[in-house]
Parts: sequence; structure tokens; C-alpha cells
Amino acid sequence: MLVLGIESSCDETGVALVDTSGEGIPKLLSHALHSQIDMHQAYGGVVPELASRDHIRRVLPLTHEVMRRAQLSLADVDVVAYTRGPGLAGALLVGAGVAVSLAAALGRPAMGVHHLEGHLLSPFLSADPPEFPFVALLVSGGHTQLMRVERVGAYELLGESIDDAAGEAFDKSAKLMGLPYPGGPHLSKLAEQGDDKAFKLPRPLLHSGNLDFSFAGLKTAVLTQAKKLGDALESRKADLAASTQAAIVEVLVKKSLGAMRQTGLKRLVVAGGVGANARLRRELSDACRQRGIRVHYPELDLCTDNGAMIALAAGMRLQTGVEPLSAAATYNFEVRPRWPLSELQAVPA
Ligand code: KG4
Ligand code: ZN
Repeated sequence: MLVLGIESSCDETGVALVDTSGEGIPKLLSHALHSQIDMHQAYGGVVPELASRDHIRRVLPLTHEVMRRAQLSLADVDVVAYTRGPGLAGALLVGAGVAVSLAAALGRPAMGVHHLEGHLLSPFLSADPPEFPFVALLVSGGHTQLMRVERVGAYELLGESIDDAAGEAFDKSAKLMGLPYPGGPHLSKLAEQGDDKAFKLPRPLLHSGNLDFSFAGLKTAVLTQAKKLGDALESRKADLAASTQAAIVEVLVKKSLGAMRQTGLKRLVVAGGVGANARLRRELSDACRQRGIRVHYPELDLCTDNGAMIALAAGMRLQTGVEPLSAAATYNFEVRPRWPLSELQAVPA
């Protein structure tokens, strides 16, 4: 079966095509992406209305590009998948509206996909794909969660952030330091030249005894430091960046190890934008190697939002034997800007 996937939940328009025929993991045939980062940079963050309008401009040209690269035509597509949520309402509506219209025109079913399910299955497209069951550390701009993943569609939440997400902690701290949006990659680059022990920053909930996270206090501590430094901030920015990154990474690593202990599993999967962070990858891999735990990451270009993970998640659900609903039944769509993964319809074992 050929599954087209469309992602438009935030500031990236992504389209991809996977093939679910054959044994094993769906095969990624082609994917194309347009990032709106340059457009939003002037505003220091995502402007929802601009995001929606840009998705409208990009989604069909990207779809044609994906079909061209795969040397296939739209008539070959069996299912059109789209991100149903969570995300920005207007942005989601663009992808969903286009996907459902396309599906209707082709007489094929459409399928709404949970964005976080896409992220957490994305390592299956890597050169070193995981096997079920595993613990997933999902670290994106909007979410920080530890999950026990039994199989496709069976996700148990072990812990999550009670306030800011890890990506948000990176982005907000970076903004306080005057770095461009999105701050995560910029802060991480600057941190390479800094001393990670220069500033003592809090590690919130590190010893809480559960698997929840909290990053709001860290951002406040960074703000206090930045104010204290005043004019000296400019010359100490790399040190502050390195210290901030060290604090976030230490919490993520310790809590992930806690989840491995609690579940007794020996496989950890990291997903979401912050999963691209080099220090997180290095520290997690080192800590896990010492404990006989295998860690799997998505390819770097599939850590942040993309269409491939949406096509993949739809494809993997279909492979479990879930029948796509009749075409007409799937055209009556709605998006879910707030949609806890726990409310996702489970796939029968
Ligand atoms: O998964 P994603 O693309 O979007 C959401 O679903 O939220 O994640 C975006 C987040 C942003 O907060 C961004 O700053 C962060 O991932 N990010 C990074 C890095 N690359 C992206 N954070 C730290 N280090 C990086 N290298
Ligand atoms: Zn995302």
C-alpha cells in the first residue's frame, strides 16, 4: 500500500510517501520539507496566522515534488495521511483540509495521525531501527514525556513535564540570551565554546522519585543570571549556554535511566527535535552503554517535524491490520489542537 503523509502542525510543511508492502518497516520512498524558520525569525517565534498561510503555499508543490522524486503519480496513492493534532489549529486545518480533499478526489481513504506517535515511531526509519518493546523519551518543542511502548498503538505514559517542555526550556533560555529563534540549535552550538560548570543552575525534580519533569524554574534561574551579568552577559554567553544545556541534559538522562530501571527494559528510543542535541546523544549513549541498554535515535533530519514520520505512523498502523475506514467515512474531518497521546485509539493486540 502506498501512503502519502502530510505534516503541517507548526512551522514545517512536510510531505512524504511510504510503501507498506513487503515485510517489515514501511519503506520511505521520498520526502520533501519546507521550514518556515526564516519567516518567523523576525518575530522571535511562530506567528500562527503566517504559518497557516505558508502551509497553503507549500503543501501542493511539495506533494508534487514527492511524487516526482518517487517517479509515481497521485493515482497510485492508496491512503492519504495527515497530522490531526496536537498543534496549531489553523496550521493543522491546512494539512487536514488538503489531505482530505486530495483523498476525496482520488476516491481513497484519508487517515488522521497523532503528531507524537509520528515522532516516537520516527527512529524506525533510521539505519539502526529499534524493536518493541522500548522506553521512548519524547523531547520536542511542546512535549517532554517518557513512555513505555509495547507495540504500535500501545503507549503508556510514565512521566511528563508539569510545565515547560525541554525544547521550550532551550528556546526560552536562548531568547533571554538574545539568540535567534528557534533557540535550541543556536544555544547548543554556542555551548560548544563554553564552560558547562561556570554557572550553578537548578536541576528541577531531579530527585523527585518519579519520572516527571519541570523546566520552568530553570528558565527563571537563567533569567536571574542574565540580569546579574548585565553588560557582562555578552562575554559570558557561551558559559551560560553550556551551563543551561548541561542542566537540561542531566535531567533528561537521569530520568531516562529511571524509566529504564522502573520498566526493566533494555531499549531506549529518543525522538523529537531535542533528540538532535549532540550533548544529549553523547551523554545518553555513554550512560546506557555502561548499563547494557541500547539507544536508538531518528536520523538527524527526521528529529524535527517532517512528513516522513506521519506517513510512517499511518503505514505502521495499517500494517497492524487496522483497516482504513471507507473513503467517504474519512472525509468528515476535525483537527485536535490539544490531543493527549493517551486518548489515541489503541490498536488491538
Ligand atoms: O519536534 P519538533 O520539531 O517540534 C515539536 O513537535 O515541538 O521540536 C522542535 C524543538 C525546538 O524547541 C528546538 O529548539 C528543539 O526542538 N531543537 C533542539 C535542537 N534541534 C532542535 N534543541 C536542542 N538542541 C538541538 N540541536
Ligand atoms: Zn514535532
